[in-house]
Amino acid sequence: MALQATATHAAVAIVFLLMQLELPGRSKPVSPDPYRCVSDDPLVDCCPPPVPKKNIVNFKLESKSSPLRVRRPAHALTLEEARKYERATALMRALPDDHPWNFLTQANVHCAYCSGGYYQQGQEMTLEIHNSWHFFTWHRAYLYFYERILGKLINDTSFALPFWNWDHPSGMTIPPIYRRPSSSLFNPTRYPTALKFINLGDCEGNNTPESIPKQKQCNLQAMHRQFIAGFNSSLLFFGSPYRAADQPYPGGGPIESSPHGPIHISTSADMEYMDTAARDPIFFAHHGNIDRLWTIWERISMNKSRVFKDKDFLDASFLFWDENMQFVRIFVRDIMDTRKLGYVYEEVPLPWMKIKTLVEKEGRQSKSAGKDEGHGKSRVTFPLKLQSDVRVNVRRRVGKEGEKLVVSDIELDGRDYVWFKVYIGRVGGGRVEAGCFVHLERRAKERIHMVTKLQIGITQFIEEVGADGDDWVVVTLVPVVAGDKVIVGGVMIV
Ligand SMILES: *[C@@H]1O[C@H](CO)[C@@H](O)[C@H](O)[C@H]1NC(C)=O
Ligand SMILES: *[C@@H]1O[C@H](CO)[C@@H](O)[C@H](O)[C@H]1NC(C)=O
Ligand SMILES: *[C@@H]1O[C@H](CO)[C@@H](O)[C@H](O)[C@H]1NC(C)=O
Repeated sequence: MALQATATHAAVAIVFLLMQLELPGRSKPVSPDPYRCVSDDPLVDCCPPPVPKKNIVNFKLESKSSPLRVRRPAHALTLEEARKYERATALMRALPDDHPWNFLTQANVHCAYCSGGYYQQGQEMTLEIHNSWHFFTWHRAYLYFYERILGKLINDTSFALPFWNWDHPSGMTIPPIYRRPSSSLFNPTRYPTALKFINLGDCEGNNTPESIPKQKQCNLQAMHRQFIAGFNSSLLFFGSPYRAADQPYPGGGPIESSPHGPIHISTSADMEYMDTAARDPIFFAHHGNIDRLWTIWERISMNKSRVFKDKDFLDASFLFWDENMQFVRIFVRDIMDTRKLGYVYEEVPLPWMKIKTLVEKEGRQSKSAGKDEGHGKSRVTFPLKLQSDVRVNVRRRVGKEGEKLVVSDIELDGRDYVWFKVYIGRVGGGRVEAGCFVHLERRAKERIHMVTKLQIGITQFIEEVGADGDDWVVVTLVPVVAGDKVIVGGVMIV
């Protein structure tokens, strides 16, 4: 007996000791510290008022009794649906400035998680939800509470946010409900061109009736490509792991770069910046569609079994005011199923799903930073500033989840708007655009030193250029915006 007790004590002591040490096995999910939010930068002053400690409650799923909310395409709302949404937003705008549901206070929640706002629990660094595996999860939780608050304001438990169906040709402009200047859904900083065409990825043209069909086709190509690039694994789709105390911005998934980025940039001056994006009501429809793409990816590409099982992913938590005026801590594991959260997306056609990737013929040769010398011996030396196109031969390597291209150690000042494209080509043959890196501008007094990476699933692209029998492929990086402000550390296939 005594011996057994001693053994138990010893085991407890060892477990306790292990808990004290920062051993690699110890879980490290990110979470915000609600009592530490930095707002010493006058450019980005968005910390919410402090919350008394006893008032934080853990999120609980609602009982099944309430009706399922069906999120519909914004361009196809009925007049009645549009009026409801307008009325709810008008009520939100009319709330006192310090009310947690106030429109601007709600917009600032986005800012507090993406511009050096909240510190992480127990860490001397802020929590940044962009360019990591929490891009999709955080925004899902944010919209969830926002939608329920709007519903509460109009006493409608079935109220659903619309989604901006920009992946369908009929949704590739600012939807009508957002256009009336007297509407609560209007934003005065919108760009007039967005009323004619919304750009999903380097598809601008002159927006004439003749050019728009072509631009829309280009949008569908961009949508197709970005979906394919993130198709084959959680890591590719969601982005790279981001655990407590990790450097922020480990790398976002393809969809975060595009269509997400270009739509922010081409919509309005508010949407263009991280800190003001959610001040344009269309933000919530934009992210509704991003969230919808998550549900489509889950349904089409995979078995749920392929979603991250990592505890640091599932145990991460965020804080929001809910529709009952409680300050709630919600965990990522709570939000993995939209039906359990009480909403679904209306099914609409996916015209980008089955189209063929556009293979460019050789000949659209661009100037190279270094000249190729045949297979593998390329004079390009990394790291390099992306001042002009860079062509480099890369050796193929097929892993468990197919082939993955990594553009590593992308270094920039987070205040800069940066965009470059990535092509995969066959040596001496055609090429396809396989993805892009798009970084939205952030406001800050001082340089935001960012080092991130871009990962693209290229298995299908390699087949499409006919390089599946080759040992090498040609990777070309093409600067679109501010290439001289970005350094690329390397390009490899893993
Ligand atoms: C919603 O219901 C509450 C309480 O029943 C009421 O005070 C409020 O005026 C209603 N709001 C609307 C927009 O109908
Ligand atoms: C789902 O996973 C199972 C077992 O791993 C596999 O047999 C099946 O083909 C998968 N289905 C799809 C649609 O990928
Ligand atoms: C995903 O990986 C499988 C297995 O390597 C491959 O056959 C398939 O083409 C890949 N899909 C895409 C979209 O790259």
